[in-house]
Amino acid sequence: MTVDLKELENQLLESVNGADNEAALEEVRIGALGKKGLISSQMKGLGKLDPEQRKQTGQALNGVKARISEALALRREVLKKQALEERLATENIDVTLPARQRDQGTIHPVSQVWEEIVQIFADLGFAVAEGPHIDTDWYNFGALNIPDEHPARQEHDTFYFHRDAEGNRKVLRTHTSTVQIRTMEKTAPPIRIIAPGRTFRCDSDQTHTPMFHQFEGLVLDKDIHLGHLKWCLLEFCKTFFEATDLKLRLRASHFPFTEPSMEVDVNCSWVDGQLKVGEGDNWMEILGSGMVHPNVIRAGGHDPDEVQGFAFGIGIDRLAMLKYGIPDLRAFFESDLRWLRHYGFSTLNVPTLAGGLS
Ligand code: PHE
Repeated sequence: MTVDLKELENQLLESVNGADNEAALEEVRIGALGKKGLISSQMKGLGKLDPEQRKQTGQALNGVKARISEALALRREVLKKQALEERLATENIDVTLPARQRDQGTIHPVSQVWEEIVQIFADLGFAVAEGPHIDTDWYNFGALNIPDEHPARQEHDTFYFHRDAEGNRKVLRTHTSTVQIRTMEKTAPPIRIIAPGRTFRCDSDQTHTPMFHQFEGLVLDKDIHLGHLKWCLLEFCKTFFEATDLKLRLRASHFPFTEPSMEVDVNCSWVDGQLKVGEGDNWMEILGSGMVHPNVIRAGGHDPDEVQGFAFGIGIDRLAMLKYGIPDLRAFFESDLRWLRHYGFSTLNVPTLAGGLS
């Protein structure tokens, strides 16, 4: 044997105890006990020795190997503990610190207002209902007391699909009133729902886009009258515009699916080119509404002599423009990041009635 085992052991022990992190220690381990490590290569040399020497050196080498292994294990424990303590000291987070706003996405005004509306009506006991964007002529028109050739069909600038083999054609729904029928069909009164969603009309200018958002309201129950409608809308508008003195004006109008029908205005003021809803003597139209037409109640599968109801339809985008002073509707759907940063809402401020809507 040319190598002094005692010296080898001391050398290795020194390296083990000198390793100051787990990766360095692993290097030492491989250098000693790995396939080509110092101890392993000594082991390989045993074959060349005569039997007596082989026995002695073999035992001695095994002893070195065992002690080095033990030293490695001990050192590993120490280093692990050290590393953990270091992490605990440097990686602590103060969970009582306020959340830092990251300048990444914002909530689109439509999503914000949508959520505000749902919150307000949830508080009034309304559930949220949904319907498909592509619907049949029947749900969009027929069931809503708009027969073929009715002039209202032209007013809606409908996107039609090709006719199928039976001559029926589907439409992109022009309003959320489709959900009135779909809800009546599957729900027994009392019904109290709002149906927010996308609607489509072939129209585009500063206040119209081919896709826009509406929400429908429908109440169907015994002895429902116009007073309920007015109270409900007043309550909604006051809460939504955060204006306790807000006034409503109901103007006679016409929709085929309601009788009587009313357009609803809110009072507003223009000061220095700034619109304020809920104060002043000007009026601004914000929604269409009325008492559900008996034919519509029948089409929904109920008896108009038993139950009555009211319905309303409001543009979500329009509400967002009015509440947050956004002048052009088209910009809503252009995905311009500068616009979104300016008009978007914090992802952390979820609107609630208790915590504040906006
Ligand atoms: N559906 C009508 C529209 O889109 C709005 C409306 C809904 C009017 C419900 C009355 C009742 O213009």
